[in-house]
Amino acid sequence: MFSSLGALFQRALALVTLAGVVYSQAATYDPYPFSFLGTIDDMTLNATGGPLAGGTLTVNGFVITIPKNSLVTLPSITVAWSEMFVDGKPNLPLLGTVSWEATVFGNVVQGQRIAGLVFIFQETTQLLQGFITSIDYTTGHFIVDNSQECVLNDPLGRYGLPYTTNPLWTVDADDPSVHSSTGYPLCIPRNSTDAECPLTNRPKDGDVFLTSFTMPDPALVVPGGLDPSIMVPLVVGDYITYSGIKAEDGILEIYSLEGNLGIYTAPGTKPAYLTCVAAQYGIIDPNPTLETAETRATAFVTDPSTTVQWYAIDIDPCTGVESERDLLLIEPDGTAPIGQTVFRLGKINASPATREVGFRYSSGTAPGPRGLVAGQFNQPIFDFGFPELISFGSNEIPLEFETIPFLAMGSGPLEYGNYLADPPPTPTLVGQLSPWPGNSAPGTLACAPPASTSASASGTASASGTPSAPSTSASATSTSTPVPDLITILTVTTRNQKGETTTTVEAETNNLASQLFLAILGVDNVDPQPMTMTSPSLFSLSVVTKGKPDFVVVTSSLNGGPIEEAV
Ligand SMILES: *[C@@H]1O[C@H](CO)[C@@H](O)[C@H](O)[C@H]1NC(C)=O
Ligand SMILES: *[C@@H]1O[C@H](CO)[C@@H](O)[C@H](O)[C@H]1NC(C)=O
Repeated sequence: MFSSLGALFQRALALVTLAGVVYSQAATYDPYPFSFLGTIDDMTLNATGGPLAGGTLTVNGFVITIPKNSLVTLPSITVAWSEMFVDGKPNLPLLGTVSWEATVFGNVVQGQRIAGLVFIFQETTQLLQGFITSIDYTTGHFIVDNSQECVLNDPLGRYGLPYTTNPLWTVDADDPSVHSSTGYPLCIPRNSTDAECPLTNRPKDGDVFLTSFTMPDPALVVPGGLDPSIMVPLVVGDYITYSGIKAEDGILEIYSLEGNLGIYTAPGTKPAYLTCVAAQYGIIDPNPTLETAETRATAFVTDPSTTVQWYAIDIDPCTGVESERDLLLIEPDGTAPIGQTVFRLGKINASPATREVGFRYSSGTAPGPRGLVAGQFNQPIFDFGFPELISFGSNEIPLEFETIPFLAMGSGPLEYGNYLADPPPTPTLVGQLSPWPGNSAPGTLACAPPASTSASASGTASASGTPSAPSTSASATSTSTPVPDLITILTVTTRNQKGETTTTVEAETNNLASQLFLAILGVDNVDPQPMTMTSPSLFSLSVVTKGKPDFVVVTSSLNGGPIEEAV
């Protein structure tokens, strides 16, 4: 009895010890990922680092390193980290009084918490709703629900009188962020006879302004009548969903406003308008223990009869030249709500992820009001879907920023996001994030220094209806010793004809700087042949052999692979 109690005690002791061992075995590891949504305590800027300097961002007490070359996504614009400061101090109005928040994706590397992607906004975007109860044309201010005074934060005066106090928190001047539910641009009249925002562009039933109507065919527009090439005015009584920042004077400075208005354009006519309300980009990780997120978007259109092309906007890391990569062509939904267009790529590999995606009617664009390009809409991605663990309890995988070209390779000459900023004093290339938020920095391209008269690189994508081919101007010279890229063989198909076999292989790499090669093993061996780039990171090649190959083998210029697949 006693002895067995002793044995029990000993086993209990062993368990305790074991528990202790197990506990210490669940050791932390490094690098590990973090994605934060928290309150900003502080921000610092490396004062000697120039326009692309990094610094630190403190969120909920955690100090995060902001690498050099970081661009920060704000509600309407993307800015260099240095643009977030005035005289070395964070330019966040009322910081300490109202909550400024950040979403940060990054990795902890050797104990250092390093950001990859940063988004900043005030008070969970201040998403509010209500009725416009008065509008003052002389100031452009308007009041919602008899209490909240608002103004469009519109430094360029696109949608109303110019307002320049806090230009970082601007409306989107190129892709109307002041619009109807269907994407039609809306405005606040600058005076009672503002020809660019006339009350006559809003039909009435008696004394009541309509909230749902279709614009006439532009060929049938009569002077003083409804005109689809002019904005539609907001009026007292409109129900709006709006976001902005609170600033020193207590006025809400609006950066996005949607009026609950069903404004449509005549089927098949231009100008027609559209807007995007949500876009998520799924990041593909070849690691089989991870589940891939979806790539999807939702847009709204004024012309549901015309198909809409959704495309990713790739950026040449050296020149900043944009090229479009088609993702999906969709016919807008004919059912209620009319104008909704949902794009779902599912878990199809849409790599590489881009900072922005675009939407355009397949009929192309047309000049819109006040310099807008009607018929297309560019949208920054706020929602990058990083792969998630399939098996809970396994080690978290660091976020694979090396698969995101604009972070790994850079994005061409810096252009300030602030509409009112002078251009950078000397042309500077946005390069790879440094320090790199991962184990080892991927290889980069050797870019020629930017010309002093650098052409406009960022901003709106080309207004042509046809996507341009990816630029190949940059030479794939790696600088430091690069990490081998990860190669995935996507498809292998064979076709036999007259005793010959044509083998076609499609493969992809996670490093844009990589060139893939295909070799064939079998009766008839084929030495590695350069594959043809079909879109950034995707390669294809067909090879003819006598007899059927046994294996295809893909390698890369960055020492990736060899990856073999039996035929
Ligand atoms: C600040 O920037 C300079 C120039 O890029 C760099 O040499 C220095 O290491 C940076 N300092 C910090 C603390 O990151
Ligand atoms: C009304 O505003 C428009 C646009 O700013 C301007 O061109 C026009 O001169 C203004 N009219 C009056 C009477 O102030």
